[in-house]
Amino acid sequence: MRSEDTLTLVSRDAQGIDRAFRADVLAGLGQAQKAVPARWFYDDAGSRLFEDITRLPEYYPTRAETEILEARGPDFAAAVGKGRAVVEFGSGSSAKTPLLLAAIAPAAYVPLDIAGDFLRDAAAGLAARFPSLPIYPVEADFMREVALPDAVSHLPKLGFFPGSTIGNMVPRTAVNLLRSMRGTLQADAGTQPMLLIGMDLVKDPAVLIAAYDDVAGVTAAFNRNLALRINRELAGTIPVEALRHKVRWNDELARIEMHLEAMRDIAFEVSGVRFTMRAGETIHTENSHKFTRRSSNLLLAAAGWTPRARWTDAEGRFSLILAEATEPRSAP
Ligand code: AVI
Repeated sequence: MRSEDTLTLVSRDAQGIDRAFRADVLAGLGQAQKAVPARWFYDDAGSRLFEDITRLPEYYPTRAETEILEARGPDFAAAVGKGRAVVEFGSGSSAKTPLLLAAIAPAAYVPLDIAGDFLRDAAAGLAARFPSLPIYPVEADFMREVALPDAVSHLPKLGFFPGSTIGNMVPRTAVNLLRSMRGTLQADAGTQPMLLIGMDLVKDPAVLIAAYDDVAGVTAAFNRNLALRINRELAGTIPVEALRHKVRWNDELARIEMHLEAMRDIAFEVSGVRFTMRAGETIHTENSHKFTRRSSNLLLAAAGWTPRARWTDAEGRFSLILAEATEPRSAP
């Protein structure tokens, strides 16, 4: 798929309503277990609240991953080699990207993001910091295969997907994405692409729950902003004060779940459609899967990636895994 084909992804109706948002919300609230996909958290307010989350004392993943990037630069450089094009899945506005770029001296940097403005701002910031590095921002939905600019077609590629965002997907979606990434990165350069991916690790559920239910209530505000966004953008009448932030560790599926729980029986409308919730009923708003060494190996293998190296922070909370695309081979 050419990247231009993805530019029309945000489709709005005559009232300026995002059709995909409305379709996801109406379908999700109509299910027996109400659910809204986590990607709708990130309007302007939600993106700002997520930035605040990354600085919370309880939310260790961002600090742990940054610690690895700061400490392991020479290891990355040795394992990856020089002269690759770094393709970042997400726009690279975080402090993590410069750490990687400074460590491995890439030949080019290609940030992929669906949000064009955000992408251009992030690219401009990095251009100021790395003036001799060619940067080719591509506005695209990286959940599908993306055609990279011709200027990098001859270069071996390193995909970069930090943050354990892969954990926000159920395994089937995660495998589809990892397979698409493989397609996007497949070089004509005679070298197998590599992927540096952040994966948060299984740990004491009390530590995990605290990370998603902080004392200051920032994650609660992030979660409830989804209901506020539905009210703002989809003519919703959800009584947000009647919803509480609920976090649970699902041990069977090794994931943190976030829900919005009705504290009393409520009824509301969204885009003219009526919904009810009984006291105690929830809207499931996010999964954040946590991994073990074996489960991460399996997930990567399912999508044609073989782990070649892995690094964790000093406390063993978070992992960065370097994987290489492998030719499919029949078992055993
Ligand atoms: C973006 N993603 C990896 C975060 C996570 O930890 O799953 C989103 C988040 N939700 C609540 N806190 C942070």
